[in-house]
Amino acid sequence: MNHILVTGGAGFIGSNFVRHMLKKYPHLKITNLDALTYAGNLDNLKDIEKDPRYRFVQGDICDEKIVAEAMDGCDAVVNFAAETHVDRSIHAGDLFVMTNVKGVYVLCEEARRRKVQRFLHISTDEVYGSRLEGYFKETDPLSPSSPYSSAKAGGELLARSYFVTYDLPVLITRSSNNFGPFQYPEKLVPLFVTNLIENKSVPVYGDGKQVRDWLFVEDQCEGLDLVLHKGELGEIYNCGSHNEEFNIDVTMAILKLLGKGTDLITYVQDRPGHDRRYAVDTDKFKLGWVKKHNFQQGLEKTVKWYVENEQWWRAIKQKQADYKAWMDKHYKPLEAK
Ligand code: NAD
Ligand code: TYD
Repeated sequence: MNHILVTGGAGFIGSNFVRHMLKKYPHLKITNLDALTYAGNLDNLKDIEKDPRYRFVQGDICDEKIVAEAMDGCDAVVNFAAETHVDRSIHAGDLFVMTNVKGVYVLCEEARRRKVQRFLHISTDEVYGSRLEGYFKETDPLSPSSPYSSAKAGGELLARSYFVTYDLPVLITRSSNNFGPFQYPEKLVPLFVTNLIENKSVPVYGDGKQVRDWLFVEDQCEGLDLVLHKGELGEIYNCGSHNEEFNIDVTMAILKLLGKGTDLITYVQDRPGHDRRYAVDTDKFKLGWVKKHNFQQGLEKTVKWYVENEQWWRAIKQKQADYKAWMDKHYKPLEAK
């Protein structure tokens, strides 16, 4: 592998992965194709943007022409590009279908035409749906609950079909909840950490007893690198960390690290269709991968990063506030008109 097309490389996991790969492989080239949606941020890669082995292309993975241009010269593809926030998918699912399904189709088509050596598609443990006990194996049926996870399921089924039908060298990972530096402050960990730094309250959905398996993003990147190099073509790998925590315990741990009190917790209305628990069996994923961070270690690093990088997330939160003010001014609720 000499030249990888990374899609969605300006997002959270994608940017950590680009940095990890350039550091680890001195001769590797990376092209990053990213549409720079609200979640894409070139500040995530400021430290490597001048590296001669790195090239950025702004564009949509649904756009055949730009995908063809970006994939030119690449011998592998790693697809992170996606709409990723469950709550947004509940309000408006159309973009999720476009990027998470049609976008995968466009990438697969171009990769097939170019005969790339590896096509790693990043999927999610959410495609299995919820289970209260035990662990999902890669062979278990899919039962996604949200428009986000359904679209992700559609995308990965499509990618797998390209292996079966066209011998496209597809590998799929189903990852659990990632956390770490550069995560957009709409997901639980960065939203809560940044709100608390600002002395704002944190909205816990429902009873806060939902369980997620928290995977520190640096461990995730090492795991993905391993699957990319050593995974068996056509196979699916659950990528979890066995750091299972109730949301309320994650909240308490963040409060403790920041020295804040429980008065900042607000229980709010639950998310519709909220999955109770995600949990995957990771035996197949081993491939020599050993996680380096337990939940507490990962969380300490993460909180420290957000404390030390206020300008990064304050710029994002300012944009969110400007957008909300603009919407409030121009789009009044119907009854107010
Ligand atoms: P993110 O939302 O932080 O980043 C997504 C990136 O994709 C952004 O840079 C965005 O600009 C880009 N993008 C979106 N639509 C695009 C399009 N049409 N064309 C090109 N670029 C586009 O996401 P993330 O949390 O880094 O997740 C990356 C991948 O990992 C996703 O496929 C997601 O489903 C999967 N995943 C994430 C988690 C998690 O906990 N974050 C867990 C399991 C799987
Ligand atoms: P999230 O980070 O959105 O990831 P996902 O929905 O993909 O698991 O949410 C993680 C958990 O935290 C999930 O059970 C929903 C919950 N949650 C809250 O309680 N409050 C919040 O403000 C958010 C964003 C999430």
